[in-house]
Amino acid sequence: MKYGKVLLTGGSGTLGGHILKSGLFKNIIAPSSAELDITNAAAVEKFFEENDFDAVIHCAALARISECEKEPEKAMLINAVGTSNLVVAAIKKEAETGRKTRFIHISTDGVYQSTKGDYSETDEAMPYNRYGWAKLAAEASVNVLANFCIIRTRFLDTKNIKYDAYATDSYTSIIPVDELVKAIAIMADSEFVGTINVGGQKVSDYDAYKRYKPTIKPCKFEDIQGKTPFKLSKDASMNVSLWKKIQKQAGAEK
Ligand SMILES: NC(=O)c1ccc[n+]([C@@H]2O[C@H](COP(=O)([O-])OP(=O)(O)OC[C@H]3O[C@@H](n4cnc5c(N)ncnc54)[C@H](OP(=O)(O)O)[C@@H]3O)[C@@H](O)[C@H]2O)c1
Repeated sequence: MKYGKVLLTGGSGTLGGHILKSGLFKNIIAPSSAELDITNAAAVEKFFEENDFDAVIHCAALARISECEKEPEKAMLINAVGTSNLVVAAIKKEAETGRKTRFIHISTDGVYQSTKGDYSETDEAMPYNRYGWAKLAAEASVNVLANFCIIRTRFLDTKNIKYDAYATDSYTSIIPVDELVKAIAIMADSEFVGTINVGGQKVSDYDAYKRYKPTIKPCKFEDIQGKTPFKLSKDASMNVSLWKKIQKQAGAEK
């Protein structure tokens, strides 16, 4: 990686854990949420003052949709305020050191309305649940920075598939978590500033998960939506042509 030291938030989570295991990021500090509680502005500022790093990979979040629905205050505090605290600390550090921190923010395909699919980065963001709104609020603060990349994505942990049935008629651009880790490394190194969709080809939930858990059963979107007290995405697939272009360029440069 082009950056010296990297600060990773959310290192104990699914994505953060895979980032740490990948070995792609050599010089990485990953404080636990007890060591760096992102909702505590003063603690975040102090951490930025006392630790030296050139890049932040921000994975910490309240990432469970059901929890965000039940506890909107917590969703806003961790996802929106927590991200904003990191952004403010990064701006202050930049003013002191004159160096621009590279800030990689992990967002979600859930900022799109997720009904028609094929969403481009320039399409309107119109989340369909509280998780999506809190993540969109986080994105708004990251846009204030000079050197940032917001990655809108959805990933699956291929060794930890939760449910026994998935819908054949709901769609995403989901990718395995290890592929996302490689994408984060590429985007951290790239000069790209802005928002990018990172994912694969449009795939039904059933087809995506069946590849890794052959015992899963097919079902219909309405079966799952009918049993769920909050709105789910019907077609959250994304246009990933910008990502494919950057990925190809990165491959060519190696
Ligand atoms: N899972 C998906 O399919 C998916 C899809 C799209 C985007 N995303 C995004 O990807 C990122 C990672 O998701 P994930 O599934 O890996 O999440 P996860 O497994 O639920 O992990 C969340 C991480 O955030 C940390 N955290 C929570 N509150 C914190 C606080 N106040 N201060 C510091 N750290 C805190 C947790 O630490 P503790 O363990 O100590 O609480 C944990 O390390 C999130 O931004 C999520 O929104 C996820």
